[in-house]
Amino acid sequence: MRAELQGIIDLGRMATTPAELQVRRARDGDLPEMARIHHASFPSIMMTMEERISYFRNDPRLRLEDHWVCERKGRLVGMFALYNFRMQRGRTAIPVGGIGMVAVAPEARRQRIAYWMMLRAVQIMEQNNVPLSSLYPFSHGFYHKLGWGVIGKTNLFRFPPGTLPGHPERVNVEPVRTYEDQTGVMSCYERFSSEMNGLLVREEPVWFERIFKSQLCYAYRNAKGETEGYLVFQYRPLPYAEHLTAVDVKVHDFVWLTDAALRGLIGFLAAQSDQARAVIVCDQTDLPFEHIVTDPMMSGGKNNWDFGSETAWVGSGLMGRIINLRRTLTAARLGPGTGRITFELMDDLNPVNEEPLTVDFEAGKASFPKATSGGILWKCDVAVMSSIWWGALKLPEAKHLGLVKLEGEGDIAFISKLFSLPKPMCNDYF
Ligand SMILES: CC(C)(COP(=O)(O)OP(=O)(O)OC[C@H]1O[C@@H](n2cnc3c(N)ncnc32)[C@H](O)[C@@H]1OP(=O)(O)O)[C@@H](O)C(=O)NCCC(=O)NCCS
Repeated sequence: MRAELQGIIDLGRMATTPAELQVRRARDGDLPEMARIHHASFPSIMMTMEERISYFRNDPRLRLEDHWVCERKGRLVGMFALYNFRMQRGRTAIPVGGIGMVAVAPEARRQRIAYWMMLRAVQIMEQNNVPLSSLYPFSHGFYHKLGWGVIGKTNLFRFPPGTLPGHPERVNVEPVRTYEDQTGVMSCYERFSSEMNGLLVREEPVWFERIFKSQLCYAYRNAKGETEGYLVFQYRPLPYAEHLTAVDVKVHDFVWLTDAALRGLIGFLAAQSDQARAVIVCDQTDLPFEHIVTDPMMSGGKNNWDFGSETAWVGSGLMGRIINLRRTLTAARLGPGTGRITFELMDDLNPVNEEPLTVDFEAGKASFPKATSGGILWKCDVAVMSSIWWGALKLPEAKHLGLVKLEGEGDIAFISKLFSLPKPMCNDYF
C-alpha cells in the first residue's frame, strides 16, 4: 500500500505543497461542499446542511475568508479555519493563529491532505507575521510531529453541589440581565485575563453571540455594584423519563478577582443542590477543590487503596506552536533572567526557525547581537520549545527527559528564571 501510494504522494519530509493541491481562502461558492465535509467530519454537531452554511457565514470570530479550503483537480478535499486571536501574557496581547475545523473529505483521507493544510497554515502565519499558533487536536501525536506542543492541562471535577460550603457571600450573586451587567462581566474577564498567561482576548460579538445568548451568567457584585467575579454555565438536563427537573451544571467560566467573590460563587453553586445532581468544573487554575468540598470524591467516583478517592480527571488539551522564534521572543517579556543563548531548533515546517538564533536576555527582554554563537547552546524541536515558552513544560524536566539539550558556557540557572511562568490556560474552544 505504502509503495503504491509512494507514486502519487511523497511520504517523506517535504516543505512545499504538491502542485496538484491548492490551499486557498474559501468563497461563497464553496459553502455547500464545505458543509458536506463538515457534516462528514463532525457528525456529533447536530446541524442541518443549511445550519452549517449559516454557521460558516455568521461565526463572530471568523469571516468566510478566514476559512481555507484545499482543492484537488477542481474538487474540495479539505478545509480548516484560521482565527485571528490575541492571547494575554504579562499584560501584553500577542497575536495567535487559532486553527480549527480541520476536516478532510472521507474520500481523501490518509493521503496527507491534513499534513499539507497544516504546512500551508504555518506558511500563511509566517507570511502574516503571526508569532504563535494554537489548536485543540484530534490526536496530540499527529500535531506534535508538525511542531505543536502540549500546553493545556485541565482537572475535571464533578461533585455533588451539596458537598460545597454554602458561603453567605452568595447573596451577592445575581443574574446578568442588562447591558450594564454584561459590561461588568466583560471588564471582570479583561482584568482577570490580563493577569493570567494564555487566556484569549474576547471581543464584544464573541460575548454576545457565544456566551450571553446561549449560556447562563451570574455575577458577584460588591456593595458599590462592581463585578468582582462571575460564572458562565449551562444546564445539562438528565433524561426526562427519569428526572423531572434534575440537571448537571457544567461551568464554563469561573472567574473571580477577590476572596469574597470566590466564596460567593462557591456558595451560589452549593445552593443549587436541590436541583443539580452534579457540578462539573474544568479547572486550569489548580483551585484545590479537594480542600473546598466536604468529601473529595467525584460523583460516581471510585475509592481504592492506590488512589484514595477519585477526585478529578486530568486532561491534556490545547496545543501551542511557535511559528517564528525570533518574533515570539520579542512579543512579550520573559522572566527576569540575564544571559546569552543560541537556539538551534528543529522545525520541519518552518525553515526560518532552523537557522541558529543567538539571543541576549537582559532582565527578560530579548535582543539579537551580531554574533551568531556564544553563550549556552539550546537544542530541541519546535514543539518542545513551544511548551516551554508557554510555561507548560518546565525546563529541568525537559532536560532530564532529554527533550532539550543544553551545551556550552554560561550560567544555566538564569534560563529557568526566564521560562518560569504561571501555568497557561485558555477558556475558549474553537
Ligand atoms: C483527522 C483528519 C483531519 C486527518 O486527515 P488526513 O488528511 O487523513 O490526515 P493525514 O493523511 O495528513 O494524516 C493522518 C495519519 O495518516 C498517516 N498517513 C497519511 N497518509 C498515509 C499513507 N498514504 N500511508 C500511511 N499513512 C498515511 C499520517 O502519517 C498520519 O499518521 P500519524 O497520525 O501517525 O502521523 C481526518 O481524518 C478528519 O477529517 N477527521 C474527522 C474530523 C477531525 O477529527 N478533525 C480534526 C480536528 S483537530
